[in-house]
Amino acid sequence: MTKKIAVLAGDGIGPEIVAEAVKVLNAFKQDGLDIELEYGLIGGAAYDETGSPLPDETLQMAKHADAILLGAVGGYKWESLDISVRPEKGLLGIRSQLNLFANLRPALLYPQLADASTLKPEVVAGLDLMIVRELTGGIYFGQPRGIRTLENGEKEGYNTLVYRESEINRIGRVAFDIARKRQSRVCSVDKANVLECTELWRETMTTLSKDYADVELSHMYVDNAAMQLVRAPKQFDVMVTTNMFGDILSDCASMLTGSIGMLPSASLDENGKGMYEPIHGSAPDIAGQNIANPLATILSAAMMLRYTLDQPAFADRIEKAVSKVLDQGLRTADIFSAGTTRVTTAEMGDAVVAAL
Ligand code: IPM
Ligand code: MG
Repeated sequence: MTKKIAVLAGDGIGPEIVAEAVKVLNAFKQDGLDIELEYGLIGGAAYDETGSPLPDETLQMAKHADAILLGAVGGYKWESLDISVRPEKGLLGIRSQLNLFANLRPALLYPQLADASTLKPEVVAGLDLMIVRELTGGIYFGQPRGIRTLENGEKEGYNTLVYRESEINRIGRVAFDIARKRQSRVCSVDKANVLECTELWRETMTTLSKDYADVELSHMYVDNAAMQLVRAPKQFDVMVTTNMFGDILSDCASMLTGSIGMLPSASLDENGKGMYEPIHGSAPDIAGQNIANPLATILSAAMMLRYTLDQPAFADRIEKAVSKVLDQGLRTADIFSAGTTRVTTAEMGDAVVAAL
């Protein structure tokens, strides 16, 4: 049966990088991949057209699709808009409306890029870790929230960090299940020494771990985790954490791999339906120049084939092709170093297609 993929390119470099991932997906059609792509607006591009960063038409398209491929949202142009209609709201809205609570952010170092990392090659060589970030709860969505004016006229901003046991359990299960397919180690990251909400997080993870006697659970405070990620990142197999801590730690982990332009992600609901996007942003400073790295988005398409479309062979082919183009010495600006060949966004996409 034909699988429907909603393609939401978004803003900034979004359209450029998504176009390359689409090239790769389309290349598989001749080998029997039965997909149909539909295009929708999200983020600033959607706001400009419709007044909303997540128009109902896009939401309906995403709901009815089997999977979603997303570029990135946001840009200087929309920074002064009210927070309720900013491009980021489109992304947060689709995550929440589709219940995409499990965000998988693998940080894998391609050996060819060991030099591109700002860390010493021996610290990052062989790195393969998976960050499992809770995506539809925590301080990103907690109520009450806002900016209020106090009696003395001073303004006060406030947000709420809140997690229910059921939310902690469901993201915990995702992490434990993934760990079973890897090195069977989960490190749960919290701030249980200060925040009650994450004290409950820690307790709930510990109780849940009784169902996973074959998986080793450890706990770490988030400040220490940030330090350990740059000190000795290979100690980690699977990290599971809250929405905001996961946002921060995954950016940190991305640099271990040389460039944030290399990291894909999957955001899954309870049934494995998912949205796939690079973890980087819309990079408005380099938008439209054909220099962005499309590999994170291309690798996100591979995750889509693996996790939602159940086509692991096609996913393998993409991952191998990415490795091959790196072997060929092809590099976009963000991963370029002496002795390699600098290519554009579109050239990188073409090279991956050729290497499939
Ligand atoms: C990410 C991004 C988003 C987030 C922004 C764009 C809303 O930083 O996907 O990591 O904070 O979740
Ligand atoms: Mg982020």
